[in-house]
Amino acid sequence: MTLNIIIQKKKKQVIKICKSPKMFKKELYIYQKNLPFIPKLLDHDNKNTLMLEYIDGTPIAELVQPDFSKIASMFITLHSLESKEGKCICHYDNNPKNYLFSKSRYYMLDFSEWEYDYPETDLIHFLLFWASIYDKVKFKQTFRKIIDSYLAKATINPLEWELLIPEVTERFDNRRRKFGKIEKNPDVKINRETLKNIY
Ligand SMILES: Nc1ncnc2c1ncn2[C@@H]1O[C@H](COP(=O)(O)OP(=O)(O)OP(=O)(O)O)[C@@H](O)[C@H]1O
Ligand SMILES: [Mg+2]
Repeated sequence: MTLNIIIQKKKKQVIKICKSPKMFKKELYIYQKNLPFIPKLLDHDNKNTLMLEYIDGTPIAELVQPDFSKIASMFITLHSLESKEGKCICHYDNNPKNYLFSKSRYYMLDFSEWEYDYPETDLIHFLLFWASIYDKVKFKQTFRKIIDSYLAKATINPLEWELLIPEVTERFDNRRRKFGKIEKNPDVKINRETLKNIY
């Protein structure tokens, strides 16, 4: 748990102190959109502090079987909010810690890094975490579930997918290195091959 988060379970609220005015503005922008899968914004100081609804939930990586079709639906809604030259609002920090499950619902947290980018970026980056967590069988199922659920209501550009994989993977690996995370999953290579095959 980071020091900039104060969780007040009894008061059912969370205080997040943002590291910079830019991060605060980014978080506020999304929390003010009042999306059903995002904790409610209870208050803010217009400077660096947000007060959010506390979600008494489980991080999705701790679930035996997250419902990836419901998770894909959150991405569809987020991505369809705004469009700028083919780019949309992407969550960007797709670490599974930023997705919670509570009372049959899924939630997305932590919008300090969101960017206008291609929707494929978010899906690839989110999937890379699971490529490092799951074995090849579970990853393949997860990959298909996310892609098929997303494609049922939104579009993925196969060329963009192919072109974006190297840079998104580099961002993922750089981040892991920065946090000293060593890749331990023996299936990561094969999972990343699976990830390339959007068809
Ligand atoms: N509204 C909330 N309800 C419940 N738990 C929350 C809420 N907001 C944050 N948390 C918990 O606090 C953790 C850190 O919050 P958040 O990701 O917003 O901050 P951060 O500073 O970006 O942290 P990190 O660097 O770990 O991503 C989350 O992973 C989650 O476990
Ligand atoms: Mg976070």
